[in-house]
Amino acid sequence: MDESCSSKRLNGKVAIITGAASGFGKSTARLFVKHGASVVVADVLDDLGRSLCQELGSEKTVSYLHCDVTSDSDVKNAVDFAVERYGKLDIMYNNAGITGEMDPTILGTDGENFKKVFEVNVYGGFLGAKHAARVMIPRRSGLILFTSSVASVNSGESPHAYTMSKHAVVGLMRNLCVELGEFGIRVNSISPGAIATPLLRNALGFTEEALEEVIRSSAILKGVVPTAEDVAEAALYLCSDESRVISGHNLVVDGGYSTANRSFSAAVIRKLSSSP
Ligand SMILES: NC(=O)c1ccc[n+]([C@@H]2O[C@H](COP(=O)([O-])OP(=O)(O)OC[C@H]3O[C@@H](n4cnc5c(N)ncnc54)[C@H](O)[C@@H]3O)[C@@H](O)[C@H]2O)c1
Repeated sequence: MDESCSSKRLNGKVAIITGAASGFGKSTARLFVKHGASVVVADVLDDLGRSLCQELGSEKTVSYLHCDVTSDSDVKNAVDFAVERYGKLDIMYNNAGITGEMDPTILGTDGENFKKVFEVNVYGGFLGAKHAARVMIPRRSGLILFTSSVASVNSGESPHAYTMSKHAVVGLMRNLCVELGEFGIRVNSISPGAIATPLLRNALGFTEEALEEVIRSSAILKGVVPTAEDVAEAALYLCSDESRVISGHNLVVDGGYSTANRSFSAAVIRKLSSSP
């Protein structure tokens, strides 16, 4: 890529990315730094977060901060840290999330697990938006982005708590879009399909290769296997001036997976092939 100043789509911007020690957040931190942003990598995985920052550059452009998104004081501290160290906050990417337990049944959904999933995925995003808005409203500019999931537009393939939490994230995103539009602040979300990050590999107990094989065979769009970098590119678009009038949008990054439900045609084919 051309590294010239004009090709850097986030030149001079300051971003906080939660859950940035791994997966989508990590790829997005890499891409944002490459595009001229100063980035605060906020996570609870301190060793991974610090080593990513060492890889990406000096503290002049990238810093690690321990931040549990379920802690009001940690999130407040992350926003204050970004403003103190880099002078402002342009982009708040609320990306940290967990799957919780993978039991897909309502009877098997444990209440404590339910609360934990909502605490991280929903309350964590709410806190990120709240503290970001605190410093963005007076400047009358900013961008708040969330990672939701294909589970926000597709039913029956994720546990109830996770699916509900990701719908809630989209609800928050849309409500904020209306309130904060008044102040020139854009609010969007990204809804990725299945991608072989540690989150999904650990949840399913698959190796990266095995999971990518499943993703490949279930894909609508053939010939590409989605990666964390694809999510980072979507985040770059939504955080750059190229998307300056896009707000309230849930950008689905799933190769068309959620457009299809082919169980009827599959049943027809099974019936036809079993008929004498
Ligand atoms: N991988 C997928 O297939 C997929 C699909 C759709 C949506 N998502 C969503 O994408 C987001 C990122 O997930 P990923 O796939 O990159 O997973 P990942 O596990 O690689 O990264 C998630 C990061 O969030 C951090 N995190 C978890 N709880 C936290 C907390 N309380 N405070 C701060 N950080 C915390 C983890 O330490 C980790 O670094 C999540 O919101 C997830 O729900 C993932």
